[in-house]
Amino acid sequence: MPQQVQGVIAPGKNEPVRVETIIVPDPGPGEAVVKVQACGVCHTDLHYKQGGINDDFPFLLGHEAAGVVESVGEGVTDVEPGDFVILNWRAVCGRCRACLRGRPWYCFDTHNARQKMTLEDGTELSPALGIGAFAEKTLVAAGQCTKVDPVASPAVAGLLGCGVMAGIGAAINTGQVGRGDSVAVIGCGGVGDAAVVGARLAGAARIIAVDIDDRKLATAKKMGATHTVNSASTDPVEAIRELTGGFGADVVIEAVGRPETYEQAFYARDLAGTVVLVGVPTPEMKIELPLLDVFGRGGALKSSWYGDCLPSRDFPMLIDLHQQGRIDLGAFVTETIGLGDVEKAFARMHEGDVLRSVVRF
Ligand code: APR
Ligand code: ZN
Ligand code: ZN
Repeated sequence: MPQQVQGVIAPGKNEPVRVETIIVPDPGPGEAVVKVQACGVCHTDLHYKQGGINDDFPFLLGHEAAGVVESVGEGVTDVEPGDFVILNWRAVCGRCRACLRGRPWYCFDTHNARQKMTLEDGTELSPALGIGAFAEKTLVAAGQCTKVDPVASPAVAGLLGCGVMAGIGAAINTGQVGRGDSVAVIGCGGVGDAAVVGARLAGAARIIAVDIDDRKLATAKKMGATHTVNSASTDPVEAIRELTGGFGADVVIEAVGRPETYEQAFYARDLAGTVVLVGVPTPEMKIELPLLDVFGRGGALKSSWYGDCLPSRDFPMLIDLHQQGRIDLGAFVTETIGLGDVEKAFARMHEGDVLRSVVRF
């Protein structure tokens, strides 16, 4: 029997979000219905509401979530009812050319639930990133459910489903930060701070946090940055070079997604160093660089999709490290809020004093 639950939808471009009754179908083959316990508010949800992703309104927002599997459809064997899971937005297919080459974190054919969740009048909803978890229950592809140790708090676990995984993965997976490396992180919001945490976990000797907001730098320091640079008042390229013996950092992680910060990252890295772009640019942004510098400085210019994570490998590991006290994912949860508070959480995002607001059910 399809179920009626409460969920947060974005009805149209720039219209305020609202809580509506959502119809959740029973899971079909390869699908699962998850009882959501917590879901973080991410910039991408705001971008959906603003029409910045696509025009497929109405959206069912929310995608950084954890919960318990309620029911599964035919053929689902990886998860079962009662499992505590983190939802991921890149369910690996196992058959595309990336998967076949043994690089499933790049999977080019990730999948979502086939059936649609709807409003009471039958209007089909577009779930944010194929998840839609600002809802008491949501329908996803079973591969989007990654089972983890249920001792973790849902608010903490859910954050691994997007921004925190993107940042940690940018450092440990994409950037391949190693013991003793120097790392600079440009932009210290939730994603950049997670990159700081990842760099520390990987054994970086020097972690330089760069931001234009002193409050963000103070938080980055608590997360493990060894040095901070306010790039509103100091040239970050010079500052990073000074802090690295005049050379530049081994790995520079760009967690803003703008041409000027990318250029800073490009020049703030040592010869043969690595730049990791994890901030997401907008379509009109362009970058111009002397091609000779691209050649002459060598190394690697990489992008990090979702932290190049493999949910089944990385989520359980990071939950275990959190439980052991080796990373503090709780530090990313600034506040817990109700389903009706998502619009307010979007407003707080702009004030810059929140890493993550998390809806608790
Ligand atoms: N130089 C340095 N830092 C900057 C600059 C700049 N020119 N402009 C903004 N910042 C800082 C902000 O002060 C803030 O601390 O970048 C940080 C961005 O953080 P958030 O807005 O909290 O965004 P976050 O969730 O961390 O995501 C960062 O990654 O996943 C993508 O779409 C996401 O592009 C976004 C990026
Ligand atoms: Zn694939
Ligand atoms: Zn997100």
